[in-house]
Amino acid sequence: MNKIPVILDGDPGHDDAIAWVLANASPLLDIRACTSVCGNQTIEKTSYNSMRVMALIGLNVPFAMGRKKPLLREPIIAPNVHGETGLDGPALPEPAIKPEPIDGVELMAKVLKESAEPVTLVPTGPLTNIGALLLLYPELKPKIARISLMGGGIYFGNWTPAAEFNILVDPEAANIVFRSGVPITMSGLDVTEEALVFPEDFERIRALNNPVATVVAEWLDFFYKFHRGKGYDGAPVHDALAVTALVKPEILTMKDYYVQVETAGDFTTGMTIADHFGVLRQQPNATVVLGIDRQAFVDLLVEAAAYYGKVAG
Ligand code: BDR
Ligand code: CA
Repeated sequence: MNKIPVILDGDPGHDDAIAWVLANASPLLDIRACTSVCGNQTIEKTSYNSMRVMALIGLNVPFAMGRKKPLLREPIIAPNVHGETGLDGPALPEPAIKPEPIDGVELMAKVLKESAEPVTLVPTGPLTNIGALLLLYPELKPKIARISLMGGGIYFGNWTPAAEFNILVDPEAANIVFRSGVPITMSGLDVTEEALVFPEDFERIRALNNPVATVVAEWLDFFYKFHRGKGYDGAPVHDALAVTALVKPEILTMKDYYVQVETAGDFTTGMTIADHFGVLRQQPNATVVLGIDRQAFVDLLVEAAAYYGKVAG
């Protein structure tokens, strides 16, 4: 079977890192490149974290540092969730690669141009790089097969009552993405808040006792500390859903909607608004993931972590 060519674009971030662990373990994906974005922490920190995660999981593909700031706004960072480094918790190996001497957006464009078949983009941070790519290289749109993103939520937000973090940080970029006409799979809070990984699930991963599984379990320990304080029973591993939508869509429920991004609301900036009743008479622009078989999701993560016990580093 042909693998799905993908570019991973994120702001690691504990859940981004677990998304990359999952992607790299999947026989269904062909990871062509990784890029970082300013989100959970500064671009310097998310870039360093990206390369450390790549070293941990033995992912040896081109990496480039993405945009330093959102398209029009100042950064918002999340040290309260991910720590001062942006990926606090277990010690990680130092980067094994050097970043490409080009911007992340240019690296994406290069990969798209050189690919014989369209490539799927998997953004798990703010959509700054993808927005810039669509603005700067509109001719490459047909080379993008799909954008499988983590962001938004059609019923509620997490950083404001209306907005999810990734969309709130760069709503202008998100607006460009949702208006682009490129097929979108949106794994937002509607599903990620259901995709809780419980402490007993951490122990299944820890018990695998390979170097990657051990780190994943410790990332979950760290990530859960913040969420436990907010009353969660487990850790919502949001970003892993953007990868799950590609490698195990059968465990998800999805529905097509026309989704717009609010860029100028008094209370709703960054909100992703779904036209539930078709009042705008627009064709759907996004497949929105709404539900998940949680146990199957946990099994998928455990299986991915186990993969690293079978391969050398
Ligand atoms: C998103 O925000 C970040 O903190 C996570 O990495 C995830 O991408 C969830 O709202
Ligand atoms: Ca993220």
